[in-house]
Amino acid sequence: MNDRLMKAINSKMSTNPLANALRKKAEVIPDLDIEETVPQPTAAAEQADAKVEVINPEGKGETKPEDNAVKQAPAASAPEEQMKPETPETPEGQQTKFLSDDIVEMLAQQVGNEMTAFYEYTAINAWCDGVGLPGFTAWTAKQACDEMAHMKKVLRYLTIAGVSPKLPSISGTVTSYADVKATVDAIYSREKEVTANWRAIAKKALQDADAGTCALAQWFVTEQMEEEDTVEAVKFRLSIGSVLEVDLQLMEQYGD
Ligand SMILES: [Fe+2]
Repeated sequence: MNDRLMKAINSKMSTNPLANALRKKAEVIPDLDIEETVPQPTAAAEQADAKVEVINPEGKGETKPEDNAVKQAPAASAPEEQMKPETPETPEGQQTKFLSDDIVEMLAQQVGNEMTAFYEYTAINAWCDGVGLPGFTAWTAKQACDEMAHMKKVLRYLTIAGVSPKLPSISGTVTSYADVKATVDAIYSREKEVTANWRAIAKKALQDADAGTCALAQWFVTEQMEEEDTVEAVKFRLSIGSVLEVDLQLMEQYGD
């Protein structure tokens, strides 16, 4: 065996399993000629034997030339740097290695959609408070807070993915309603629209095999199921009882 290579392998023995395996293999298999299968070390490797990196640490299967190959690391690299996993490069034209541009755009738009829902709940909350319905006021206040939390959740997801999204403008909303039923109908339409938004995001994330956004969208779709269920319950109560009765029920449920 080449003395210089043996020296390099021995220097790695205490830390590198394959170096040990190579050495043992040379000892127990007389016919194994490592010099034939291992490229001769260069002068640089001889000068920096501590910087020799051995690949294929498994050491399993049929012996092939590449199984015993010794790869010379760049002389300037520190040993600890050789242990670091490679950071995947960001695909060309993509803002982040985690999210596609399409997903970023959809989520940025969703920040606006959640904020619009907050804005609408706030407007309805002000109307209910103005006409003297404390139960509806308490309920819509809680819903407005939920929408604000949703907006922050999406925005936080984008920022931890390394995105500085361009957020959409929020348009104005009505603050005057014909009656309580009109406010609940507006809420129901908004919730169904937000559900459709999240279904579209979930579909795109699945197509892209974007596991992070799939998980986010799954949470929101489940949340929307609860939101729609809540509004449908209020609609049903209004269909069988008076506004004051429903207001009292909502006060008991959401009031301080
Ligand atoms: Fe929401």
